[in-house]
Amino acid sequence: MDSKTIDDAVATLRSGGLVAFPTETVYGLGADASNAEAVKKIYAAKGRPRNHPLIVHLGSAGQLGEWASEIPETGKRLAERFWPGPLTLIYKRAPHVNALVTGGQDTVALRVPSHPVAQALLGAFGGGIAAPSANRYGRVSATTAEHVRGEFGNAVDCVLDGGASDVGIESTIVDVSGERPALLRPGSITSREIEAVLGSALAPAGPGSPRAPGTRPKHYAPQTPVMLIEADLLIELASSMTRQGHKVAVLARSALRPVDPNVTWIAAPQDAAHYAHDLYASLRTLDRAGCAAILVEQPPLDAAWAAVHDRLTRAAAGAATPDAT
Ligand code: TXA
Ligand code: MG
Repeated sequence: MDSKTIDDAVATLRSGGLVAFPTETVYGLGADASNAEAVKKIYAAKGRPRNHPLIVHLGSAGQLGEWASEIPETGKRLAERFWPGPLTLIYKRAPHVNALVTGGQDTVALRVPSHPVAQALLGAFGGGIAAPSANRYGRVSATTAEHVRGEFGNAVDCVLDGGASDVGIESTIVDVSGERPALLRPGSITSREIEAVLGSALAPAGPGSPRAPGTRPKHYAPQTPVMLIEADLLIELASSMTRQGHKVAVLARSALRPVDPNVTWIAAPQDAAHYAHDLYASLRTLDRAGCAAILVEQPPLDAAWAAVHDRLTRAAAGAATPDAT
């Protein structure tokens, strides 16, 4: 990406505008984290309630002390090991951090992304960029610049195009602000990898953990109802729906597929990393197919698939209660 494009994006941030930018996980919808008026625009554009906190993106772990008031040993080790990368850490916030960014909580979410365009933007800007995933509230996250434009149109001042996001699903979130580190959102960095660095088990998110609204049931949902279906029932269900005159969309890992013009079928990758990479783009494609339902073949249940399971379960929960977004 040329330096003029980055300079323009930095000027937009400095003047309080919104800049969508690529990260290795998903695209972010960014504003100057120190400018309350700019941060308000994020909530307005997303249609997100103001008490749902945002992640502050930093260019390097060296800036941690500017945003966190306490850096526990656990939070230091995880940052050293995984930044820049797809890990968000929750620390006690520094006093200046705006309540609009933290959702009024005494903690702040921080992440140093590794994507070269995000790095170039953060490096040139110098400050923190508050950015949620660049999707309308409750919807599927954006993994390409085109998705971002489709979500927001002209409501975003600038969209930096860095190609398709590598990881494809949102960062792992670990809360290091409490007594024992807790996993708030699974992601491509697995709990096992985190625990290996900590040398102890992560606590599950409990009632005492900071709120992480993106971790509530209804999230990441297409408009079309999503159903998670066991592999051996998939073909049968798809066929019975088409016999009743419905069009059906399917995201499946099995090779067997029906020859039926009313079935839109996407063959998903076999391994979890590639599956995650394609997941949101596939859901968006299937959502546009005008079908009665998106049937998703239940992927394997082992640890490597934990983050994918989390997103699929939420997408399916969204279909059951579409008004709860
Ligand atoms: O991969 C990602 O994390 C992407 C890219 C753009 O960095 N961002 C992202 O942001 O997924 P968002 O806003 O869609 O999800 C951030 C999650 C939300 O579930 C939010 O509740 C949680 O982080 N969060 C933010 N600040 C928090 C805090 N202080 N305590 C607990 N959870 C927090
Ligand atoms: Mg999100």
